[in-house]
Amino acid sequence: MSILGVIGGTGLDQLSGLQIVDTHALETPYGEPSRPLQEGQLGGRRLFFLQRHGSPRAIPPHRVNYRANLWALQHLGVTDVVAINAVGGISEGMRPGRLVIPDQIIDYTWGREHTFDTGEDDTLMHIDFTSPYDARLRQALLDAAGRESIAHAGAGVHGVMQGPRLETAAEIQRMARDGCDLVGMTGMPEASLARELGLAYASVCMVVNAAAGLDDKPLTLEMMRDTLHREAAVVGRLLVALAAD
Ligand code: HPA
Repeated sequence: MSILGVIGGTGLDQLSGLQIVDTHALETPYGEPSRPLQEGQLGGRRLFFLQRHGSPRAIPPHRVNYRANLWALQHLGVTDVVAINAVGGISEGMRPGRLVIPDQIIDYTWGREHTFDTGEDDTLMHIDFTSPYDARLRQALLDAAGRESIAHAGAGVHGVMQGPRLETAAEIQRMARDGCDLVGMTGMPEASLARELGLAYASVCMVVNAAAGLDDKPLTLEMMRDTLHREAAVVGRLLVALAAD
C-alpha cells in the first residue's frame, strides 16, 4: 500500500484538513529535517506532512536539508512524495495563479548536498533520471485535478535556480531559450534524492509571479504571498482529492 508524504513549500505551512495524530521529531544520519513531521489523516488516508522551510524560522532554499527531509519521510514509511513548489512563470500561459504539474526539470543549482552517494561503499547511484517525476503519481495528480475540476497545466519544464536572490532578466531569457516554463529554487536536489531512495515523487507548482523582466511590476514578496494564499487553498483541495483516491 502506498503512503503519502507532502512537502509543503512557501505559503503552505499547514495542510488544511489534516487531522494530526502524531508529530515525529527525528534525527537522521544527515542531520535534522526542516521541522518535525506531522502524521495525520486526510481524506481517510494516512499522510505525513513536512514543511520544507521549517517554521517559525524560514530556511532558505540553498540551506534546506533535502537529504534529511527525504530520509525522514522514507523512515516513517512514506512511499509517495508530493512536493509543493512556489515558482515564477516564464512561458506563455504560466501566469500568476496557474497550477502546474511539471513533467521535466533543468537543474541550475550548485553546492547543495545533492546525493546519498558518499562514495564510501560500492553503491554508485547512477539513477535513471530521464523522467524526473514519477509517472504514476503524476497521473494520480492529474486525475485528482480532473475530478475536482481544478484548472491546471499538465506539463512543464521546471528550471531550478540556486537563489535565494531572484533572477536577472537575462537569466530568465536564457532559461526561456533552454525551454524552461517555470523557475523555482527548491525542486532540486529534492527530486533526484527521492529517486535515489526509490520514492515516487511528483510536484505541484504554484505560479506566484511573472519571472524577472517579464512584467513591469517589481517582484515583491507581498505580491507573491497574496497569490500564494489563494493558490494554497486550491492545492489543499487537490491533495484531499488525491488522498481520497
Ligand atoms: N524565481 C525563483 N523562484 C521563485 C520565483 C521566481 O521568480 N517565484 C517564486 N519562487
